[in-house]
This record gives sequence, structure tokens and C-alpha cells, in this order.
Amino acid sequence: MRPVFLLFMYAINSIILTSNTTHFFLCRYNSLCRCKTAGRFLHIDCSFREISRIPHFPRNTRTLNLSSNYITSIEKNTFDGLKHLTMLDLTSNKVGQMKTEPLAFNGLENLRILFLANNSLSYNDLPKELFSPLKSLVQLNLKFNTLPGNIAIGRIMTPLLNLESLQIDISNQSGYLFDRQISSLTN
Ligand SMILES: *[C@@H]1O[C@H](CO)[C@@H](O)[C@H](O)[C@H]1NC(C)=O
Ligand SMILES: *[C@@H]1O[C@H](CO)[C@@H](O)[C@H](O)[C@H]1NC(C)=O
Ligand SMILES: *[C@@H]1O[C@H](CO)[C@@H](O)[C@H](O)[C@H]1NC(C)=O
Repeated sequence: MRPVFLLFMYAINSIILTSNTTHFFLCRYNSLCRCKTAGRFLHIDCSFREISRIPHFPRNTRTLNLSSNYITSIEKNTFDGLKHLTMLDLTSNKVGQMKTEPLAFNGLENLRILFLANNSLSYNDLPKELFSPLKSLVQLNLKFNTLPGNIAIGRIMTPLLNLESLQIDISNQSGYLFDRQISSLTN
């Protein structure tokens, strides 16, 4: 019975993965997350799954929702190979509690939207290469993170040449808000 049953499950999964689905189903490769197909691409929802270590995702992942988990750090090259990924939601985690790895976002050359709101990032501790791979980024949300005395953030924003929307909290205690390099952002 069992092999037959497994085969049946596999067939069902294959059907789900080769046609467009309007609802999320358990992902074939990872039972923690839910998947939805769109043509040959995958939308993956891993929100509220008590994840502390980011799993690996298939190359055809288009959007990835990792919000409301226990992620404290992003290891280098975690997302490498996900060149079709356009949206990454890491809202409400603990990213930044551990030292932020400079190559955390390596490979995300087509990422357009990055949500990092409500984490533990301290802007002044962010490595200056952090956002370098994100050449296509249009929208960045950094609200509800640890506020520094002043925000020397232009430094890490300079590679984001396509950025159109930045959401960030600013501290009132500081003499200046952004350093001069922020002016290189023209969009
Ligand atoms: C990610 O998932 C959360 C919780 O399910 C949801 O509220 C949020 O809108 C999702 N993010 C995006 C960008 O769709
Ligand atoms: C921020 O994240 C914490 C968990 O890290 C969660 O309990 C809280 O509800 C979140 N706050 C907002 C405004 O989403
Ligand atoms: C911000 O700082 C200014 C001058 O230091 C002060 O007058 C103002 O009340 C502060 N605003 C807030 C919301 O704390």
C-alpha cells in the first residue's frame, strides 16, 4: 500500500507544480513552507513557521515570504542562485542579532522588493557591501529596527541605483540624519 500511496502523492504534487495554482499547497521540497506556481515560477510562503535557519530554495523561486520567524542571521550566499527572485519578505525576524554577513544578499541581482522591517539591525553596524548585489532593488523597508545615534547609511545605500522607495525610522537625537553619500541616489 505504502509505495503506491507515495507514488500517488508524488503524482498529485507533480500536477500541482506543473499547472498554475491559485492557492498555496505544501511545497514538495520542504514541508514547512507552502508553494504556489505561476508558469514555471514558484511563490513560496514560509511565514510563521518558527524557522531559525533559512532553508535552501529552488532556483525558480519568484517570491519568498519568510516573515515572522526566528531568523537571527543570514549566512553568506544563502540566496545565491535565486536570480529570478523579485520579492523577499524578512519582516518580523531577529536579523541583526548576530553580526550581519557582508555577502548575505549575494546573487539577488533581480530582487526588486526587500522587506526587513521589525528586525534587530543596527544601521551603523551594517557592512558596507551588504546591498551591493541588489542592483535592481526598487523598494526597501527598514522600519522598526534598532536606532543608532546617527544614520551613516548613505554609505551602504550607494549601490542601490534603482531605489525608489526607502522606509526607515530616523532618530531625532542626532545632528544629521543621512550622510552625504545618500545624494547619489537619484530615483
Ligand atoms: C508575508 O506573509 C505575511 C503573513 O502571512 C503577510 O501578512 C504578508 O503580507 C506577506 N508578505 C507579502 C509581501 O505578501
Ligand atoms: C515585531 O516582531 C516581533 C517578533 O520578533 C513580533 O512579536 C511583533 O508583533 C512584531 N511587531 C510588529 C509591529 O509587527
Ligand atoms: C527633535 O529635536 C528637536 C531639537 O533638538 C526638539 O525641539 C524636538 O522636540 C524633537 N522632536 C521630537 C519628536 O522629539
